[in-house]
Amino acid sequence: MDDPAQNIPAMESELTRLLVRRRSVRAYLDSPVPLADLQRMCRLARLAPSGANLQPGSFHVLTGDPLRALTRALQGAIDAGQPQSREYSYFPDPMPPHLKARQRAAGFALYGALGIDRRDIAGRRAQFRRNYGFFGAPVGMVVTIRRDMGKGCFMDLGMSLMALLLAVEDMGYGATGIGALANYGPVVHRHLALPGDELVVCGVAIGRPDPQAPENGLRTAREDLPAFASFRGFPG
Ligand SMILES: Cc1cc2nc3c(=O)[nH]c(=O)nc-3n(C[C@H](O)[C@H](O)[C@H](O)COP(=O)(O)O)c2cc1C
Repeated sequence: MDDPAQNIPAMESELTRLLVRRRSVRAYLDSPVPLADLQRMCRLARLAPSGANLQPGSFHVLTGDPLRALTRALQGAIDAGQPQSREYSYFPDPMPPHLKARQRAAGFALYGALGIDRRDIAGRRAQFRRNYGFFGAPVGMVVTIRRDMGKGCFMDLGMSLMALLLAVEDMGYGATGIGALANYGPVVHRHLALPGDELVVCGVAIGRPDPQAPENGLRTAREDLPAFASFRGFPG
């Protein structure tokens, strides 16, 4: 596993810079995000291609009281010991050992950046709980898709989310996906009065990154090229 930036030759391209610079932001400044900026991000995200141009998925964007109320409901459910109720299976179950190892490495890298010891159950739990407060971001987005959509439509929505993350980065903000939100889907449903046929895919926290927060300095590794791509028929 390598530093993702290391093996990519420098190119004077804004897209390359954005792709290399983007990282998950898990601590935010208080400054609000203007509605016009959020609308621009959403519109740019929707430029992503999709099979048959179905443009699957919806963005529910919250700030202020509605965001605080959702956070209270989610963290209240956790504090009350309400069991998780997954909207869908994000990861393979059971997780193959090599992926489990990668998941653990990502978790421990985050705890390491935060100074949370691996055996510090309370510290890890507190970090888990922060997912449901959108990591203190001034904006929380709930991403949904119709339950009857196929896997291809999930792929389309993923492309739209990547476009969103790049637009966020391009406009000087930061973000992180929050798949953990789908583990309390019924709470989100009740709170936002979502139609029953909408599935909660994930959350997205958006705001100005806190430059002092150690977790925002975390750089995650990527597999090197031969591990995930093969090339055939090329000269040399
Ligand atoms: C759809 C999606 C859901 C995610 N869910 C969570 C989450 O629930 N909690 C969290 O701390 N990070 C979450 N992440 C962030 C990933 O852990 C992160 O993208 C990965 O470790 C790579 O790091 P990077 O984004 O800094 O490159 C999510 C990312 C995506 C794209």
